[in-house]
Amino acid sequence: MRRKKYMAGAILLILLAEIFTGCGGTSQETTPKSIKVGVTVYDQYDTFVSQLMESFHRYAGKKEEETGIAINIEVYNAADSQTTQNSQVEKMINDGCQVVCVNLVDRTEPTTIIDMAEKNNVPVIFFNRELVEEDLERWEWLYYVGAKAFESGIMEGELAVKEWQEHPEADKNGDGIFQYMVLEGEAGHQDAIVRTEYAVSTIVEQGIEVEKLGYAIANWNRAQAQTKMAQMLTEYGEEIELVIANNDDMALGAIDALKAEGIGQEQWPVIVGIDGTDVGLEAVRNGELAGTVYNDKEGQAKAMLELAYQLSTGGSLKNLELEKGKYIRLPYAKIGPDEVKNYEFSEEKSIEER
Ligand code: BGC
Ligand code: CA
Repeated sequence: MRRKKYMAGAILLILLAEIFTGCGGTSQETTPKSIKVGVTVYDQYDTFVSQLMESFHRYAGKKEEETGIAINIEVYNAADSQTTQNSQVEKMINDGCQVVCVNLVDRTEPTTIIDMAEKNNVPVIFFNRELVEEDLERWEWLYYVGAKAFESGIMEGELAVKEWQEHPEADKNGDGIFQYMVLEGEAGHQDAIVRTEYAVSTIVEQGIEVEKLGYAIANWNRAQAQTKMAQMLTEYGEEIELVIANNDDMALGAIDALKAEGIGQEQWPVIVGIDGTDVGLEAVRNGELAGTVYNDKEGQAKAMLELAYQLSTGGSLKNLELEKGKYIRLPYAKIGPDEVKNYEFSEEKSIEER
C-alpha cells in the first residue's frame, strides 16, 4: 500500500515535470498556439549574416501562414563579445524561448551557453560559425546548420581557372604564372582557413602555376579589405593578377581600393568572392567581380527555421536528414556572368528551390 502511494507520487511528479519543462520541446503532447525562438548573431552588421536573418524572418512568416502557429522571434546582436552573447542566451532562456539559435562570437567558447541550455533543457541550434564536434556532442539537443566550406573554395578556384583560360590578358606580365593575393576572413574561422586552401589547390590541380604575393586578414569586412588592398597595391601594384577573397564584402573592398587609386577597370586583377550577397551579385552582373560562390543563406535559414519549429512543437526531425543526428550542411553554387541571371534579388530562393 505504502509502495503504491509512493509510485503514484512519483508518476505525478514526472507528469508535472513534463508540463513545466515545455522548453525541452520533446515532450509536448498538444501543439502550442505560438512558439518563441531566440536568436543571437555575432555581428548584426555582417552583410551575409544580416541577409541570412532576413531570410529567416521570411521563412518564419511562411511557416506561420502554413501552420497557423505564431512564431515569435527575438533577435540580439552580440556585437563581437562572447560575454554579451552568453548573457543574451541567459535572457532568452529566462524569457521562455523554446529554442535558441546561436551564431557564436568565438566558436571555441560555446561552453557557458551549452551548460545553461542543458541545465534549462532548451535546445540550441548553432549556425554559420562552427564549434568543434566534441562540443556539439556534449549534450543531446545541440545542432549545427551551415555549409560545406571546402566546396566554396573549390568553386572559387574554378572561377579563377576559367578566367585564366578564357582571358590570356589575365596574365598581365605574360610569364605564364598566376600571381595572386588572398584577402582572408577572421583568423580561426572554419570558412576562412578551408576556403583559401581549396581555392588555391584547385587552381594548382588544373596545372596552372601560381605565385603567392601576399595575404591580409580583413575579418570579412569591406572597409578593412579596402585598407589592406591599398597597402598591397602600394607594395605590388601591377604585379597582382588575381585577388582571392574569402567573401564578397572583402572582394568589394578590393574593388573600392582599385577605384580609389583611380585604376581603370581594364587594368584590374581578376577578383573572385564567395557569398552571392545582393551587393556581390550586383558586382558580378556589372562585370567588376569575375564570379562569386552562392552561400545558400535561404537554404540555411529554412533549415534553421524548420529545425527550430520541430524542436519547439515536439515534432519529428526525420525529414530534416540530419547528418550524425546533429548537422545540416547546405551545398554552394558557382556564379559567373552566365549564371548570375538566375539570381535575381526578388527571387530569394534556396539553391534547392531554384
Ligand atoms: C560568410 C561571411 C561571413 C561569415 C560570418 C561566412 O560563411 O561567407 O561573409 O562574414 O560567415 O561568420
Ligand atoms: Ca603572371
